[in-house]
Amino acid sequence: MSEPLHLPLRIVIVGHVDHGKSTLIGRMLNDTGALPESKVRELEAAAKGRGVPFEWSFLLDSFQAERDQAITIDTTQIRFKHGVREFVIIDAPGHKEFLKNMISGAAAADAAVLIVDAAEGVREQTKRHAYLLHLLGLKQVVVAINKMDRINFDHGKFEALVQELKEYLHTLGVRPTAFIPIAARDGDNLANASTRMDWYKGKTLLDQLHVFERFGAPVALPLRFPVQDVYRVDEKRILVGRIESGVLRKGDKVLFSPTNETATVTDIVSWPDRHDKAFELKAGEVFGVTLDQPIFVERGHIGSHAEHAPMLTNVFRTSLFWLSKNPLRVGNSYKVRFGTTETAVTVQSIDKVVDTDDLKQTEQAKEVVKNAVAEVTLRAGQLIAVDSYSDNHKTGRFVLVEGADIVGGGLISMEGYADQRRLMQPKSENIYAVDHLTDADARAQKLGHYGGVFWFTGLSGAGKSTLAMLAEKALFERGYHAYVLDGDNVRHGLNKDLGFSPDDRAENIRRVGEVSALMADAGIVCITAFISPYRADRDRARSASPRHFNEIYIKANIETCEKRDPKGLYVKARKGLITEFTGIDSPYEAPENPEMVVDTEVNSVEVCVKQIVDYIEAAVSLKKKRENIIAA
Ligand code: ADX
Repeated sequence: MSEPLHLPLRIVIVGHVDHGKSTLIGRMLNDTGALPESKVRELEAAAKGRGVPFEWSFLLDSFQAERDQAITIDTTQIRFKHGVREFVIIDAPGHKEFLKNMISGAAAADAAVLIVDAAEGVREQTKRHAYLLHLLGLKQVVVAINKMDRINFDHGKFEALVQELKEYLHTLGVRPTAFIPIAARDGDNLANASTRMDWYKGKTLLDQLHVFERFGAPVALPLRFPVQDVYRVDEKRILVGRIESGVLRKGDKVLFSPTNETATVTDIVSWPDRHDKAFELKAGEVFGVTLDQPIFVERGHIGSHAEHAPMLTNVFRTSLFWLSKNPLRVGNSYKVRFGTTETAVTVQSIDKVVDTDDLKQTEQAKEVVKNAVAEVTLRAGQLIAVDSYSDNHKTGRFVLVEGADIVGGGLISMEGYADQRRLMQPKSENIYAVDHLTDADARAQKLGHYGGVFWFTGLSGAGKSTLAMLAEKALFERGYHAYVLDGDNVRHGLNKDLGFSPDDRAENIRRVGEVSALMADAGIVCITAFISPYRADRDRARSASPRHFNEIYIKANIETCEKRDPKGLYVKARKGLITEFTGIDSPYEAPENPEMVVDTEVNSVEVCVKQIVDYIEAAVSLKKKRENIIAA
């Protein structure tokens, strides 16, 4: 549902400094009739006086001059109208102010225009600006290829540039709605269709902007009500809070997170007048509700409708603005606060740090200093309910607190991570486990060894399959009943219905976790070779075989794996031909406390195989176990 048309669409224009941003804005204002005739004439005269040709960008310079005289404000909002629609261009004096405004919500944009010079193509600055779109979770993006006149309106060149940009943007997870060839100075394809590019059949820039929606009409979003408090009034229990988004009606079935329990709303009591009964509550309203079930609910729990619930997770990615003079470092703990939820989190990784002056990015930085923006992955001790900022501007935002101070603020991105709620809900009922009449010791007596799960994890190309197969062979030759479950193999059969989305990977690992547990229970030495990029999934596999599980980290960094590239997949992923590739545009969470680390960067294949075989033998061999007991 879109917001009423009277609310303006907030747009931000980004791109390399010289690629024509000011000209685009100036000309757009002119072509939509937003400028008084006199303003343009005045600037034309001034240009003439100085003996320079008139430029549309003078207009922005004159705005800047006006702004400089005004009291300090962080953003300029340039308003204009086209047809029935109103627009606001959000402009900030520098990147720092812009990012701070966006992340704090002071001036959030609904849509973005990325401007690229047709003749110059993709520059470092273009990439840095494009990255902002990803960082800020902007989904409504249009790319304007400017200065088409400089390449003679050449269709082929335009397409080649579009291709190049698409490939780059896809690696960031940014998928623009349109690529529009324009000549901002002359107004081609801004408000009016160009007569110089007959080959272009798409929309003009303004027509495209018309299609975009004003973000986050809170009422139109899925229901979120963070519980602020639970009161007992007579016999009744009343949940109190404020609806952040959506609508709640009497009789609605409400799912509470993170408990994952459901109850029906029996009464709505508008607060503070407890006797004034209502039937419906909308975003922004303060409420009290009663439920038909005595389920456990407390402050910090979030109510939603079951079909549009928040995600449950213990890990989430963030775009963070850091405010404290004490740097943020991996391993540091803070309190995260969103809505009424407050919980402890630890910094799992600093994925990228962005210098807010020049937007230069540093990967794998050690710390985030004051006023920097960073992509940071945070981990909580238990499951919490979160929304991505791109889905819900109200609830997808948080602050980090240390002691009593707010030390950072940020936006949540769940891209690359699965919803863990799905895996908590058993579907079958009325099932009863049956006991075996043979136990693990009896099986071990027969086979000469116990069963076990030896869970290899690591990047694609780290050596998991190679080492697993060699270890299987060596163990088999020594009389062990060993068997490898390999990612590529299992994906041909049992898991051929699964791809590489976070949900599919979670399911892939869940099934293999269960199968390997059965194999170990049957007395088999089961070696698994799966990337298994998420800690939560590996932890679940461990809990499927609590007594048999060994996590073995097959360690090689992304640079090494990319150099090896045995299947040529990294090359494809870099070109955008494979999306959601681990280590490129999908996360890999290295184990924290694995039972064993096998470093394939440092050691030869033979050394690694020996390490693994020795470890497995020590873990499962009956003979070795007896020898150890005697030696002790
Ligand atoms: S996992 O993430 O779900 O554990 P799994 O180990 O089963 O992955 O499969 C990984 C193998 O699939 C890789 O070795 C590679 O050959 C292939 N593959 C194809 N697409 C992808 C992708 N997007 N990311 C990672 N591996 C991929």
